[in-house]
Amino acid sequence: MLHAEPNIHSVTASNYDSIIAGAAALITRGRLVSFPTETVYGLGANATKDAAVAAVFDAKQRPEFNPLIIHIGDAAAAPDLVEFSDIAARLADRFWPGALSLILPRRADCPVSLLAGAGLDTLALRVPDHDIARALLTASGCPIAAPSANRSGEVSPTRARHVADSLGGKVDLILDGGPCRLGVESTVLDLTRKIPAILRPGGVAREELEHAIGPVEDSLQTSFQPSSPGMLASHYAPRLPFRTGATEIHEGEALLSFGPHAMTGFSEERNLSLHGDLTEAAANLFAMMRALDRSEFTGIAAMAVPEEGLGRAINDRLKRAAAPR
Ligand code: TXA
Ligand code: MG
Repeated sequence: MLHAEPNIHSVTASNYDSIIAGAAALITRGRLVSFPTETVYGLGANATKDAAVAAVFDAKQRPEFNPLIIHIGDAAAAPDLVEFSDIAARLADRFWPGALSLILPRRADCPVSLLAGAGLDTLALRVPDHDIARALLTASGCPIAAPSANRSGEVSPTRARHVADSLGGKVDLILDGGPCRLGVESTVLDLTRKIPAILRPGGVAREELEHAIGPVEDSLQTSFQPSSPGMLASHYAPRLPFRTGATEIHEGEALLSFGPHAMTGFSEERNLSLHGDLTEAAANLFAMMRALDRSEFTGIAAMAVPEEGLGRAINDRLKRAAAPR
């Protein structure tokens, strides 16, 4: 909705530095830039900015908040974001830059937006093996959250033209680096379990992983819930009793509101978006749920938001938080 026409720029040897600098400035400011990686084109946003990350979910029209892969320019940046285990370091040494995303526990002081990780205690990290992607990461100076740059439900883009066709005017800039070398997404490997598990097969084969670190589970062959952690209610539940669809307040409750309302009697209020903007609400959701989750309240009462666009994802998360535990 930012431009009528997609803004595609070919990256060539002669304009390289100025194009990368311009793209990095957009990322830093919280705008969306699509960039090539060796796997597929990503839809990139400053991972530390809630509003930028919310714009990614909005542009893709993801029906739910599915966590995004966080891209970094160098493995040395990883320990600031996650608990970087020995096995992670070994895999990074062998496969980064490359088509391997590692799921690791987020650090308590991790600067990445909670929304980017869909409120989970883990993050998926990878260093892409593409000059343009890495130059952009270095120049931006922040981690970049980037799902594949396609509308939800479509196949991933491997040409700048695919991005323009799918997301068109919703992207501030599309960096055209030609066709993607691999054309299939990265392998997603969960390192938070006793035995590492492949949540999504991708550019790095299971055999290569096992050669490096020994046995790896294939989540498709176990009883483990596959790659949609967002489907598990407990991931989104605060500690306090939580209810949604609130139209009045009970004694001692904190209120998670949306837009103007006439409710009174709450102990504390956080408003997802005073002027009823769903993108802003999505950006605030996980951080505000956490901010209200304090033992001085008897519970959290959340208002429902309109069941449209990102509102569906927000209501979905509110309902999961309110589900019986
Ligand atoms: O090759 C790729 O991985 C491309 C390029 C742009 O890097 N990105 C990509 O992102 O395919 P996306 O958002 O389309 O897919 C990310 C996958 C999803 O299946 C998501 O559930 C999973 O990674 N994922 C991300 N964070 C996760 C986490 N903390 N726990 C479990 N799964 C996670
Ligand atoms: Mg995708």
